[in-house]
Amino acid sequence: MTSKVISVTQNVADTDADVAVPGYWYTDPNIFNQEREKIWYKSWLFAGRLEKLANPGDYITCKIGDEPIFVIRTHSGKLQAMYNVCPHRGMRIVEGQGKCKHLLCPYHHWTYSLDGQLQGVPYAQECFPGLDKSSIALTKVQVDTWGGFIFVNLDPEAGPLRDYLAGSPEHMEQYSQPWEEMRATHGATFEVPFNWKILLENYIDAYHIPMVHSPTLGGRFEMPGFVGGCMSGMHTLQYYDYLVPRERTYISWLFPNTTILTLDEYVLVWQVNPVNPEFTVIEKFLLQTPAQIEKFPMKSEEIISKQFRMVFEEDIPFCRTLQEQVKSRAYNGNQKLAKGPEDGVLYFRKALLQVMNNT
Ligand code: FES
Ligand SMILES: [Fe+2]
Repeated sequence: MTSKVISVTQNVADTDADVAVPGYWYTDPNIFNQEREKIWYKSWLFAGRLEKLANPGDYITCKIGDEPIFVIRTHSGKLQAMYNVCPHRGMRIVEGQGKCKHLLCPYHHWTYSLDGQLQGVPYAQECFPGLDKSSIALTKVQVDTWGGFIFVNLDPEAGPLRDYLAGSPEHMEQYSQPWEEMRATHGATFEVPFNWKILLENYIDAYHIPMVHSPTLGGRFEMPGFVGGCMSGMHTLQYYDYLVPRERTYISWLFPNTTILTLDEYVLVWQVNPVNPEFTVIEKFLLQTPAQIEKFPMKSEEIISKQFRMVFEEDIPFCRTLQEQVKSRAYNGNQKLAKGPEDGVLYFRKALLQVMNNT
């Protein structure tokens, strides 16, 4: 498809405004590249859980767009995020997650302190006469946390995480369980052949639930009023009320790619990572407090089939088909959305257009 200039009419101040996202936004590599630059490399993005970084030297790695990043706890106890790129020739320094005393580049064995300062260079005097080690360090990245979630931001000019999260922490802190005590218990990775926005718009759309999910979720909600929500900053905050007595579900869709959903038994988190315009990887995992682990013990197989797959597999065929359908010349993405149950889609599109239209 030929690339088109982004020009979409929008009015982000008017909460009832229609926002059109044309079909090629779900397929076009140029749009995908613009999303990388304007969204992924400018936003606070979830990078991993804090409980993995309990002690100095503990680290986790992640990818933000195409950028390899790691977060480590330093000897002074603070968190440090850095590009996982050796300044010498570009090698990746750490893999996966683990623990180290210092950072060792596996290629030529340059060593760095846990906060990224160059310390050792093999054959330094012979090969690098006059080298000023104090002038060389790994490139640092902003890092901060909320509720045990670690966020990084590749934009050195970005404002504080708390401002970016807007009212989301307050929304999620209505949940009965203490966020700081949560621990990741089960996780699984899924790959899907469609655009990340199709996946997330489907996630936040409550309008399709009675039609698509009647086998799994039927009878749990009273349509159409069970969902409420608002846009806060860039994020969509929702709650679901049930017909049966149980705690209200709180949902935060942290723009652009992390969703957190509370249930009585646990919290379900999705991290959505676009690989290319038509292929997306989803990391799903559960969080539980010690009290929930005791009250609702769960086996991996049970979780994976029940919570990670059943509802999701009802959605997948629709998302696959949508990926094909939005390419049609007959689709222009400007139809009105359902007031109430599709508000989440509206909010997401507003946030998306606001960021993408920023020059
Ligand atoms: S690339 Fe890291 S030491 Fe050479
Ligand atoms: Fe669904």
